[in-house]
Amino acid sequence: MEKIIDENKQGENLIIEGKEGNKRKLFIESYGCSMNFSDSEIVASILANEGFNTTQNLEDADLVLVNTCSIRDKAEQTVRKRLEKYNAVKRSHNPKMKVGVLGCMAERLKSKFLEEEKIVDLVVGPDAYKDLPNLLAEVEEGRDAINVILSKEETYGDISPVRLNTNGVTAFVSITRGCDNMCTFCVVPFTRGRERSRDPQSILEEVNDLWNRGFKEITLLGQNVDSYLWYGGGLKKDFKKASDIQKATAVNFAQLLELCAKAQPKMRIRFSTSNPQDLTLDVIETMATYHNICNHIHLPVQSGSNRILKEMNRLHTREEYFELIDNIRRIIPDCAISQDLIAGFPTETEEDHQDTLSLMSYVKYHFGYMFTYSERPGTMAGRNMEDDVPEPVKKRRLAEIVALQQEHSKTRTQEFLNKTVEVLIEKSSKKSDQQWSGRNQQNSVVVFPKEHYKVGDLVNVKVTDCTSATLIGEAIGYSNNN
Ligand code: SAH
Ligand code: F3S
Repeated sequence: MEKIIDENKQGENLIIEGKEGNKRKLFIESYGCSMNFSDSEIVASILANEGFNTTQNLEDADLVLVNTCSIRDKAEQTVRKRLEKYNAVKRSHNPKMKVGVLGCMAERLKSKFLEEEKIVDLVVGPDAYKDLPNLLAEVEEGRDAINVILSKEETYGDISPVRLNTNGVTAFVSITRGCDNMCTFCVVPFTRGRERSRDPQSILEEVNDLWNRGFKEITLLGQNVDSYLWYGGGLKKDFKKASDIQKATAVNFAQLLELCAKAQPKMRIRFSTSNPQDLTLDVIETMATYHNICNHIHLPVQSGSNRILKEMNRLHTREEYFELIDNIRRIIPDCAISQDLIAGFPTETEEDHQDTLSLMSYVKYHFGYMFTYSERPGTMAGRNMEDDVPEPVKKRRLAEIVALQQEHSKTRTQEFLNKTVEVLIEKSSKKSDQQWSGRNQQNSVVVFPKEHYKVGDLVNVKVTDCTSATLIGEAIGYSNNN
């Protein structure tokens, strides 16, 4: 039942244009959140300067890297299975192959990885990718290499990532790293470290560069984008120690959004993920002011029960969340809102679960990502709370949540019937190469006959039909925003 973020992309193997003269072959695949996919682009850029071109063939690879996720136990088990597969290939085809583990599992398990998984030669945490050339030199000399040091500064702002497996239209731009929120169920603050923001200048340069290369939509990425704060570098938690000048010239998320929207007024802008406790009205107002900022907010709530929200250390109540939803709807009436929810957090009762269902009915989310609670070692809940909701109960509650979401998604999809929506064409539809597939501002997938339109065009589409999650329509002309 569990749904994984970016389900279609899990385990995707990344390919970039080869650099002439590069002799070594890198196979790199990624699991988990968008940030990991974005980080793999940074890693591939660093290694392109070390003589590596990417390959799709595991059998040919000199170096295999897997960018890993620790968010739930299942994510870690998937990676362990991949390591078994690499091991089999190494034994049968390619004894010289080296294997490295990147990302959150590397950070969580550190040197344990080298002991537990004999196949692994290299362990690199999310803040240590610039050390890869040194670490690889160690590996080449026959030693295991590890760097899992978390940084106060690293944002990779100075690395312009090569875009992997790109459609040439949409790209991720990372704006913050780490997270200070300490939700009690979540391993991210431990695996990705303290929160720091990237220099807005380097973000704008990347956005401008993407536009010049033909990209039409960016997604600003962070674990908690609303918490973005640039005051010349350093950790978010140290902002209070900043000088008066630094404080006066600081850039917050609403300001960053505005800078991006103005720098490229025709570039569509999305962002992910928002946190209810940090999403401010000025962000919503900025969204309303600039047409190119898409009307969609991914606003995880995790639970609808005040008692559970408190146990989770989510710093808002159900009532405050409703107020935020009301404000979003008042300022941007057609804004899509999506959720993340967890079923079966420790001590969750039937009544708490009913609160989650009633919260969902209030908001009627456009879509969502729903999970059963998975205890993570080292987190506050992992240490202090017993994982006491039996697995079958978690699964039944999740099934009820998913069923209700499906109902709401269907209603939301039907609301677009007979309306005209603006679609950015991304690719051919999976079902028919006669049809384009793209998304409207609210992030719903829209398919329509290709006619003379091409990838990257912004087209107005009249919606004539729909399935539970896809809009079907016909183009009526170019949007004025091309
Ligand atoms: N702020 C992050 C959230 C990362 S985790 C972001 O940018 O998306 C993504 C989702 O995984 C969370 O919102 C939560 O719903 C879920 N999750 C996190 N830890 C979990 C756990 N221990 N068990 C089950 N689901 C979890
Ligand atoms: Fe995790 Fe909560 Fe941060 S879900 S990533 S600790 S906002």
